[in-house]
Amino acid sequence: MTLDLDTRPLDVLADFPAIPAGWAYLDTAATSQKPRPVIDAITRGYAESYATVHRGVYQRSADMTFAYEAARRRVARFLGGDEREVIFVRGATEGINLVAQCWAGSQLKAGDRILLSQLEHHSNIVPWQMVAERVGAEIDVVPLTADQRIDLDAMAAMLTEKHKLVALAHVSNVLGSVLDCRRAADLAHGVGAKILLDGCQAVPRLPVDMAALDCDFYVFSGHKLYGPTGIGVLWGRYELLDAMPPYQGGGSMIDRVTFAKTTYAPPPGRFEAGTPHIVGVLGLHAAIDYVDSIGLARIHAHEAALVAQTRAALSSINSVRVFGPEASAGIVSFAVEGVHPHDVATILDEGQVAIRAGHHCAQPLMDSLGLPATARASFGVYNGARDIEALVKGVERVTRIFG
Ligand SMILES: Cc1ncc(COP(=O)(O)O)c(C=O)c1O
Repeated sequence: MTLDLDTRPLDVLADFPAIPAGWAYLDTAATSQKPRPVIDAITRGYAESYATVHRGVYQRSADMTFAYEAARRRVARFLGGDEREVIFVRGATEGINLVAQCWAGSQLKAGDRILLSQLEHHSNIVPWQMVAERVGAEIDVVPLTADQRIDLDAMAAMLTEKHKLVALAHVSNVLGSVLDCRRAADLAHGVGAKILLDGCQAVPRLPVDMAALDCDFYVFSGHKLYGPTGIGVLWGRYELLDAMPPYQGGGSMIDRVTFAKTTYAPPPGRFEAGTPHIVGVLGLHAAIDYVDSIGLARIHAHEAALVAQTRAALSSINSVRVFGPEASAGIVSFAVEGVHPHDVATILDEGQVAIRAGHHCAQPLMDSLGLPATARASFGVYNGARDIEALVKGVERVTRIFG
């Protein structure tokens, strides 16, 4: 395999101290490795500038509050939204649960319907099932096209005025399929439904802009965007957030507390009860700066080249089946005939190649593929053609071992 220009690393490998030479880390869809500026921001946050936020009247706390709120403005700029629309949560999972409990829990009634797709992550299924059970709503599932994208023609045919919410992955964590968000939003809004996009796998790979996507809610996790774990973002239209009841009760989310009655702070504070993940927020700020310094359009082009080369190389091996559309964003799922994906991953690991094997928290998708699991290679800014060579060499070894 020849190294072509687009699949050389983006010259950032030296920024990632936890990637030793010769190790092909191909599990970025699970979690990304951390660049030095993120590690430094976290270290400085604890070692130099640590204090609480929104409470202290002393200078250190005021400075930390300023840094925390600067991060919120940075997220808003990254997403193309207003800072009052940015809620810090633990991750995409918490963001979706928040919308399910607070928006759907207060707006949906018996007989209403929620539309999901066949390829959703469990985080974008189970919270809706929980609220649907509570209020007596029903869930419908949009099927996939032959090339395994969410079938928006089918969605158009399925939507009715009973649908109050559509929740879809912007990019599939298994197949890399990219949603035509604008069309999905137009379809949802056409019947008066709101639309939530699960942007977990999109924000590290594509430029995103809330106005262009025209969604109502958007969620992502910091740890997949080269930031820390335990921090993520729910973006929501202000008027929707403002009409929602709180998620959790506690400090910071209140306006006035008496035993007779408590009134709540406006968004975003209303949804950030308790002392937040202060240093995680600083790390997320550094991660966004880092990704923007490379440029998401450049990252996207780079990962598209890696995907194309990986798909071509794996498809040329007789016993390998590759899933997902050709134009998948940074993620390639595959199966080796007659070999369990866990065995594939174990043998690859012996050759210093780290991939994910399993159902990828998408059991309904696995059911529709008729498989218990797949092997998945997913890319990040640090990957290049050498990683693909190591992957392909490892898969060839798998086929030799299993005959
Ligand atoms: C598409 C998608 N949605 C949701 C999640 C859940 O993210 P987290 O576990 O960070 O909350 C993931 C994580 O794998 C994902 O890939």
